[in-house]
Amino acid sequence: MAKLKKLNLCVLISGNGSNLQALIDACTVPEFPAQIGLVISNKASAGGLVRAKKNQIPTLVVDHKAYPTRADFDRVMTKAMEDNSTELICLAGFMRLLSDAFCDNWRDRMINIHPSLLPSFKGLGVQQAAIDAGVGFSGCTVHYVRKEIDTGPIIVQAAVPLKSFDTADSLAARILVEEHKIYPHAVRLIAEGKVTISNERALTADNDRQTQSLINPPIEN
Ligand code: GAR
Repeated sequence: MAKLKKLNLCVLISGNGSNLQALIDACTVPEFPAQIGLVISNKASAGGLVRAKKNQIPTLVVDHKAYPTRADFDRVMTKAMEDNSTELICLAGFMRLLSDAFCDNWRDRMINIHPSLLPSFKGLGVQQAAIDAGVGFSGCTVHYVRKEIDTGPIIVQAAVPLKSFDTADSLAARILVEEHKIYPHAVRLIAEGKVTISNERALTADNDRQTQSLINPPIEN
């Protein structure tokens, strides 16, 4: 049987890397259409680096503090990714802003995961912001990256209901469970060529299969 041509990913992290782990786990399945060629962290202490090394994935630390400008930092990362033949960048808890030139260079080849239902609740502290706003659902979003923070065509979202007793931590934990499902799902859709960007919307035929509405609080029956 012909060997599956896999989409070559570079995952950018700054911390624990539980989303990186979800991608690593997905990539261990032989039929999964992507592989992780490189993991880059801007922090040498990031727990995600240990996860990568355990799985024999090449790692690189690019410490942003070592570079005078954001553009210099971004150029070093781009060189490493080009040398590694990166086809898709996955930001997974990468807590650095990227330069406009970097976003342009990797346009439609860079995705991010964010713990809210974008375009609501951009930036940091988004779980507390969702609680404070009193929304019935928050969730998570995988989207293509544009220059403005937490913007870009939305590929996959998962809705998570809020509970009256939620804290930022309890909500973050429930959202994270869904993040670990939708990040590999989004990568698969892209790798299988199912996502088309049109008028800044990321469309897949699979969207039309979702017919279930969610109501919170639920209607008694
Ligand atoms: C995740 O919740 C991710 O969505 C969030 O950081 C966490 C990283 O966790 N990213 C952002 O807030 C980016 N705007 P992880 O290191 O365990 O994957």
